[in-house]
Amino acid sequence: MYKLYKIHLITLTIIFGFFSCKPNKEMKNSSLHKEIEQKVDSVLGLMHIDEKIGQMVQYSAGWDLTGPPSSKNAQDKVAQIKKGLVGSILNVVSVKEVREAQKLVMENSRLKIPMIFAYDVIHGLKTMFPTPLGESASWDLELIEKTASIAAKEAAASGLNWTFAPMIDVSRDARWGRIMEGAGEDPYLNALIGVARIQGFQGDDLSDESTIAACAKHFAGYGFAEAGREYSTVNVGEFELHNTILPPFKAAANAGVATFMNSFNDIDGIPATGHKELQRAILKEDWNWNGFIVSDWGSIGEMAAHGFAKDKKHAAEIALNAGSDMDMESFSYERNLKTLLEENKVSLAHIDAAVKRILRVKFQLGLFDNPYKYCDEEREKNNIYTKEHLAIARDAARKSIVLLKNENAILPVSKSVKSIAVIGPFADNKDSPLGNWRAKATYNSAVSLLEGVKAKVGKNTKVYYEKGIELTVPTVKAGENQFMFPLQMNTEDRSGISKAVAIAKKAEIVFLAIGEDAYQSGEGRSQTKIGFAGLQSELLEAVYKVNKNIVLVLSNGRPMDISRANDILPGILVTWQLGSASGNGIADVLFGDYNPSGKLPVSFPRNVGQEPLYYNQKNTGRPFNNKHVTYAGYTDSKKSALYPFGFGLSYTHFSYDHLKVDKETMSSEDKITVSVDVKNTGNVAGEEVVQLYIRDLVASVIRPVKELKGFQKLLIKAGHKKTVSFVIDKEVLQFYTINKKWEVETGEFHLFVGGSSATEIKQKISVE
Ligand code: NOJ
Repeated sequence: MYKLYKIHLITLTIIFGFFSCKPNKEMKNSSLHKEIEQKVDSVLGLMHIDEKIGQMVQYSAGWDLTGPPSSKNAQDKVAQIKKGLVGSILNVVSVKEVREAQKLVMENSRLKIPMIFAYDVIHGLKTMFPTPLGESASWDLELIEKTASIAAKEAAASGLNWTFAPMIDVSRDARWGRIMEGAGEDPYLNALIGVARIQGFQGDDLSDESTIAACAKHFAGYGFAEAGREYSTVNVGEFELHNTILPPFKAAANAGVATFMNSFNDIDGIPATGHKELQRAILKEDWNWNGFIVSDWGSIGEMAAHGFAKDKKHAAEIALNAGSDMDMESFSYERNLKTLLEENKVSLAHIDAAVKRILRVKFQLGLFDNPYKYCDEEREKNNIYTKEHLAIARDAARKSIVLLKNENAILPVSKSVKSIAVIGPFADNKDSPLGNWRAKATYNSAVSLLEGVKAKVGKNTKVYYEKGIELTVPTVKAGENQFMFPLQMNTEDRSGISKAVAIAKKAEIVFLAIGEDAYQSGEGRSQTKIGFAGLQSELLEAVYKVNKNIVLVLSNGRPMDISRANDILPGILVTWQLGSASGNGIADVLFGDYNPSGKLPVSFPRNVGQEPLYYNQKNTGRPFNNKHVTYAGYTDSKKSALYPFGFGLSYTHFSYDHLKVDKETMSSEDKITVSVDVKNTGNVAGEEVVQLYIRDLVASVIRPVKELKGFQKLLIKAGHKKTVSFVIDKEVLQFYTINKKWEVETGEFHLFVGGSSATEIKQKISVE
C-alpha cells in the first residue's frame, strides 16, 4: 500500500475541476452541458411566476408522508407541494416516504417538476464513519473519498439525492462545537479533504443512481465565530477572508460541487446570507460557478433578528439581490418574492437565474428523466449497512486514530497480556461513537471499546470492566433525539468509582475511556470548558493512585484540554467519535494490528484560554522567544500547543535527512523541486505523513509563520528509506496580495519538511 498525493495533480484538479485531464470526457460533458442548458431554458419558458418562486422554496417535512397530514402546518405544506410550489424537501428519508412526497408534485402539479430531496448526510447514512474532524486526522484522501461515496450510495438508496456536506469552514476554536464537522484549522487541508468528499458524494457523474449532489458549506466565515460562540459574529479582514476562509470554497467550486449553503453569521456587519459580494461577485461571477446556493435553515428570515432587514419581506429582497437562490424553511421567498417583483424591488432576471441554477442541478441528477430514480426498494434493501461498508468503517476508524503519547512503548499491548481493566463512561458505550450528525444510525449500534478489546484477546486474558461513573444525568429517554437538549453532567454520584479502583488494582494495564459525549460537540454545542466534564477527572485520579499503567483512550469531537492526563499518563490515543466500527478500530491500534498513522488536523491546546489556537499564525512585532516569555504569549501558560497541528506518533520512528532543493532561485513562473529522505528507523513497518510547509518571509500582506502546502502519506518498511519530493511553483507560493490578486511576490521563502507543523527542518529559496 503506497499512497502518493502529488500536490500537482491535486492542484490541477483544484484549478480546472476534475474533467480537465480527460479531453473525451470533456467533450461529452460539454455537449451534455449544452443539452441541459437547452432543457433548462425550455422548462423555464413554461413556468409562471408562482412556479418559479416555488422552485426557490425548500420545506422541511416533519410529518408522516404516508398518512394524511396531521397538523395545519403539514396540510398547508402539502397543498403547496401539490400546486408545484416547492422545489425541494429536506428531512424525508426512505424510499417509501420520498416516493409519497414526490408523488404529491408529480401527480398533482401543472408542470410536474420533480423535487430534490436533501438531508444532512455528514459522515454516513446508516453505516457511520468517523466524524469529519476525526476522519480528517487520517490525511488519507482516497479513504475519505471512499467513505463519502458509501455515504452517498446509502443515501441514494434511501430516496435522497442531495446532502448538506461537506462543511469546509476552516475552524480554529475548540470551544466552537461545530469544529467536529470540518477538517480543522488549515485552509489547504480543508480544501483537499473537501474536494475528496465532494468527489466521493458526486462521483464522476451526478446522474449515476448511486451518487448525490454535495453542498459546500457554510459560505462563509462560520468557523470564525467570535470566541467560539455558536452563530456569533465574525470579524475578519479582507485578506484573512481571501487567504484563509475562501480557498476551500474556491476548490469546491472548481471541483464542480453542485450546491453551496450560505451561513448564519455576519461578516463585519453583513450577514453572509445577504452578502452580495461573496455570493454574486466572488462565487457566481469571479469563480464562474453555476450551481445553486441554498440558505441555511431560516437564515434569510433571521436577517431581521440580525438587525439587517426590517422584516421577512425585506430579508427576501436582500437575500435574492445578494444571490441566495433557495430559501430553507424561512418562508420569506414564498410569501414575499412576488410582491417584491411587482414593487420592482427584485428583478425577474434574478429570479430566472436562480430558478435556472436549481433546474440545472435537477437535470444533472436525472430527476426529469425519472423523478423516482432514487426510489428503488431493492437498492434500499441491499445497499445499506452492508458488511463491505462496515469493513471500510473499521478501516476508516483505525486510520483516524492519533497516538499522542507512548512512553516506554506502553503500546501496542500484547494479546497475551494477563489482565486488562477497561474503565470509564465510554468504555462500553455503543452510542456516543456514532457521533453527532448521525443521520439514520441506529441507537446504540457502534462496536464499543470493550467489545473490540474482548474480540481481540485470547481466553487467557482477563478483561475487567467498570464504568466508574455516569457522565451525564439522562434528560431524554435512551434513543430519543438528544439534539435539542443540552447534556446535564453528573457531578454527584460517585458510587461506581471504588469499583473501578478495585479492578484497576488487579489489572496489568488500564484502558481509561474518558472524554466527551457525542452531543457535547456539533451544532449549537459551544462550550467554555473543554476539559473532562462531570466526575471524569476524579475517576482518573482515583484510578491513577492504584495503577500507573494507563492508556487514555480519548473520546472527543473537538480538541480537548488533556494537560493533566498528559502530565501523568504514559499513553494517549485520540479516538474522536469513530463511527459504527469504533471499538474494533481502536482495538486494532491498541494491540498493534494496525500501526497508528493519524496526524492532528487541529492543534490540541494546553488550556482553553489559548483558543483560538492554530499553527499558521502571523508573527507579531514582538515574536515569542524564550528570553521574553511575555511576548505574544501568556504569563501563566506556554504559548505553544500541547500537541500541534500535523502531530501524531507511530509504533515506529522516522528520521528526515538530506533536505535538498534542485536550485535555490526561481522566477514566479518557474519551479523548484524539494526532496527529503525519510527513513523508518524502527522495527515495524509504518505510515508517515510527510508534510511540506512554506513561509514567505517578507510580503505586502504579512504571511503566516508556516503554511501547509503539500503532504504525502507513505508506507515505509522497517529499516527502509524513501525519497519524497514536492514541486514548488506558483500555485504553492501565491497568495492574495495587497493588489487584491493572487500573485507570487519576489523575495525569500523558507521551505519546511517534516512529520508535524513543529518541524524546523528547512531550506531557503528565493523568487526573483
Ligand atoms: C443548520 C445547519 O447549520 C446546516 O449545516 C444544516 O445543513 C441545516 N441546519 C439543515 O439541517
